Amino acid sequence: MNAQIWIVDFGSQYTQLIARIYRELGYKSEILTIEQSFEFLKHEKPGLLILSGGPQSVFEDSTDYSPYFNQGFPVLGICYGMQLMAQHFGGTVHKGTIGEYGKSKVHDLNNTFKVNNEFIAWMSHSDHVSICPKEFDVFLKSENDLIAGIKHQSLNFWGLQFHPEVIHTVRGKEILLHFVDKIGLEKNWHNEEIYQTCLDEVDDIGDEYVLCAFSGGVDSLVAASIAHKKLGKKLYCFFVDHGLLRPQDYKHIELLKNKSQLNIETIDAREIFLSKLESVSDPEKKRKIIGTTFIEVFDQKVKEFEETKDIKFTYLLQGTLYPDIIESHSPHKKGGKSVTIKSHHNVGGLPEKMNLKLLEPLKSLFKDEVRKIGSFLDLEHSWLYRHPFPGPGLGIRILGAIDSVKIEQVQKSDQILLEELVESGFYNKCWQSLTVHIPQKTVGVKGDARAYEEVICVRIVGSRDGMTATWSHVPYEVLDKISSRITNEVSGITRVVYDITSKPPGTIEWE
Ligand code: XMP
Repeated sequence: MNAQIWIVDFGSQYTQLIARIYRELGYKSEILTIEQSFEFLKHEKPGLLILSGGPQSVFEDSTDYSPYFNQGFPVLGICYGMQLMAQHFGGTVHKGTIGEYGKSKVHDLNNTFKVNNEFIAWMSHSDHVSICPKEFDVFLKSENDLIAGIKHQSLNFWGLQFHPEVIHTVRGKEILLHFVDKIGLEKNWHNEEIYQTCLDEVDDIGDEYVLCAFSGGVDSLVAASIAHKKLGKKLYCFFVDHGLLRPQDYKHIELLKNKSQLNIETIDAREIFLSKLESVSDPEKKRKIIGTTFIEVFDQKVKEFEETKDIKFTYLLQGTLYPDIIESHSPHKKGGKSVTIKSHHNVGGLPEKMNLKLLEPLKSLFKDEVRKIGSFLDLEHSWLYRHPFPGPGLGIRILGAIDSVKIEQVQKSDQILLEELVESGFYNKCWQSLTVHIPQKTVGVKGDARAYEEVICVRIVGSRDGMTATWSHVPYEVLDKISSRITNEVSGITRVVYDITSKPPGTIEWE
């Protein structure tokens, strides 16, 4: 563990943001489960320990947290973390009756944060600290006169009832910076270190062959380019054409074959995918079929290489990111509190079924960090800043059963959307853009005749990581052009709608 900042995850939906902000500020930070933190503390100490927020109540938590408070390192408790700290030091936590949610004004009693004595902060709590522990002072109060911040009189222990990591807290980043400045932490997370961390992951492969499930998206491209540095021709990138791709994906893969150094082979698996999906309309079933068919296709490829080329793959390279790793041991999951909204996958299940070892050079990075280190690998900006595209492809953008007519309608409308967003300069301002086929006929007029045709929905969203998203306020003129081009150029479509749903409650993809 060489992170200076350890963030113990008590299950808040904002925990990852704390790590993201500190990393952006130049401090290596890692998210740990409670068990991991206790284990690490037996041998090492953090420069700063952060106790995150969480959905539970201190009244239900009987864990002994003294290892956090009796070893002399600085601790910052946020929301639930502050309540744990207050309780540990003999303060009183009051069971929630008047919670505070959303934006709230906070009074900075001594102007500690140099914010003119008050600022807007994001609150999300029902319990609150009602009596400050003896050795602590209250330095922040909410507009409801509740304790919003406490600090120890002589040691580096602080508690904040609000969430400085949430964008709605005005100058939240400066507030987080305040604590590392106060204890004099040195920056240790620059692009060079990030890059080196990734290279280290592929250091010990030796003379083995590596198979990469390659989509051409930023994650698999950067992962493959890192592995290529060490492995050269021993890395084989397989791009599966499942027939649910967009014109831009075919173009992009050809471009990469020509311009990158990677050894990329396209597997034409259109027939097998499309025949298995025939007449299947349930979204989860479609996702599962696509996932298992990926496994079959790769399995066949591995066998083919063994039999015809005498090449045996030992490793599977994947562009897994840090959020995937953290989410797999999130306290939400352990407690069984989370539900499967959608079963996400690219090639999930491959290594287990195919007896391959996993290679995940990006597993400690967030997506924005992956994009940053792309510059060390001579990858073009436009390759690194492509919009994300899900593994199941258009299979989850055609609602219900899939057929070749609908695939073509989504392909053509997506191409129009892409061209117009690039032309208007909006492509780089949004996180993701897509078109969805809605299998509902509506009445229209085309030429002088009545039309009774289906609907294309355009979805454009802004996001930092896909976990939350807001629909984009694209200028009307751009939407107008997209709409008239789709109705004019895509046969069978008379109506175009724009999705104005944020996430939550709507997910980015429709299925
Ligand atoms: P949702 O629809 O859950 O999507 O809001 C969040 C982000 O994840 C992408 N997505 C996927 N990516 N395999 C992937 O690799 C999948 O099965 C999958 N489903 C959704 C989605 O495009 C968005 O960026």
